[in-house]
Amino acid sequence: MVHSYEAAPGIEVLTSSFSIPGYGLVPINAFVIKGSEPILVDTGAVVESGQLLPALRNVIDPADLEWIWLTHTDADHIGALHTLLAENPRIRVITTFLGVGIMSLSAPLPMDRVYLVNPGQKMTVGDRTLTAVKPPAFDNPSTTGFYDDRSGVLFSSDCFGALLPAVPQSASELSDRDLREGQMLWATIYAPWLHKADRTAFEKELDGIRQMAPKMILSSHLPAAPGKMTERLLASLAAAPAAQPVVGPDQAALEQMLKQMTEVAS
Ligand SMILES: [Fe+2]
Ligand SMILES: [Fe+2]
Repeated sequence: MVHSYEAAPGIEVLTSSFSIPGYGLVPINAFVIKGSEPILVDTGAVVESGQLLPALRNVIDPADLEWIWLTHTDADHIGALHTLLAENPRIRVITTFLGVGIMSLSAPLPMDRVYLVNPGQKMTVGDRTLTAVKPPAFDNPSTTGFYDDRSGVLFSSDCFGALLPAVPQSASELSDRDLREGQMLWATIYAPWLHKADRTAFEKELDGIRQMAPKMILSSHLPAAPGKMTERLLASLAAAPAAQPVVGPDQAALEQMLKQMTEVAS
């Protein structure tokens, strides 16, 4: 079920947990930034698209939304996108040219309703200035997060996500071990290229986040993380390239699982 909580004044998290058997729970977050021009950051998972809207209505009238910032086009971020575009003809979608291109293969975005940004560019959205950020790790080339100058929050998209045994409301409630192992597992699954990345270059990317000194990091796949946790988040991610690569179950393992399920059902 999608439910909501306030992460910072005027910033709501719409969240649900997705279970990956054998690995843990991954939160799937969308965010509402209230303000003179309200923004929805991502739109939940396709499989839960019917659940996002009721949760969204609990925190804002969708008719009041001006913008959707689409951090990337993966299925866990575009669930209610087209429903919202149909419901509120004023909403514009902030994305990249590549984001538009990827969407055009399945559910095209109307070109007069997109607003293109590239990492490093700033845009003024009502009472705040948003700076587009390419996060240090990502699983989709269109990924673009952003830093909000008004709240000091970094919206990091999939970066800093974690697979967890349970999902608390604040990442500060996670033990060091659960956070570190959960982040490393998530990073090695969603960004397996990290194992091949130049370590010095990757450290430089992480240092860019350190220099930003966000007051909070809101990842699409981690509970809200206050700024005092940034060093912990960076340290876990810095360790990910040296972690054991994740190899998923093969056909023999699948057949074993199916056999066990059949035995349990009979
Ligand atoms: Fe993704
Ligand atoms: Fe994601």
